[in-house]
Amino acid sequence: MKNKILMAPSILSADFANLARDIALVENAGADWLHIDVMDGHFVPNLTIGPVVIKAVRPGSKLLFDVHLMITEPQKFYEPFIKSGADLVNFHCEAACDKKALIAEIKKAGVKTGISIRPSTDISKLMEYIELVDMVLVMTVEPGFAGQKFKEEMLPRIKLVREHIDNNGLSCDLQVDGGINSQTGLLAARNGANVFVAGQSIFGEHDPAKALREIRKTIEN
Ligand code: DX5
Ligand code: ZN
Repeated sequence: MKNKILMAPSILSADFANLARDIALVENAGADWLHIDVMDGHFVPNLTIGPVVIKAVRPGSKLLFDVHLMITEPQKFYEPFIKSGADLVNFHCEAACDKKALIAEIKKAGVKTGISIRPSTDISKLMEYIELVDMVLVMTVEPGFAGQKFKEEMLPRIKLVREHIDNNGLSCDLQVDGGINSQTGLLAARNGANVFVAGQSIFGEHDPAKALREIRKTIEN
């Protein structure tokens, strides 16, 4: 069965002084997931948000909270994110921990799991985890900042991961993150992606709700 197209706006580009308002805006516009970027200033050269923010906005939203951990030691920090309301905990295959054990622990805690790969990492580092997770994230920019340019050279690896999912009868979602807009989202979709993270192309627009609907429409057609 083909995976559904899912839109996951990234709150990194939202107005943090009006975060609850911005989340409600994309929720009402038909967002499927809320993408939450967690950075530790070590795995990536930027610092963003922690569990307290997730806890604060959780009661106001029914969206699936998709937590993207760009941190060096996910095994040390994943639990508070689950307690605060994460529905999906996604960490990087570059993290130097026992990844299979961590996937099992996250599952045991009752939430979905995801594994991500940076553009510069050899794709072979990802493959053995695909059958264990609910979602694979193929990054289409180097993680760390919103508003970067989509790397078209990632399209073949998106296709490769999709083929691996389909050929092995797996059902996990394939997410893309970084520089996604109508055009790049469509390219990624044609290569097999089905979950689309978008920061600047939604919250950077004058009318984020309209922007979200337009990206979805382009991708779905
Ligand atoms: C980048 C983050 C992204 C970021 C996407 O490291 O993982 O989720 O917020 O922002 P855009 O869509 O603006 O590239
Ligand atoms: Zn992200």
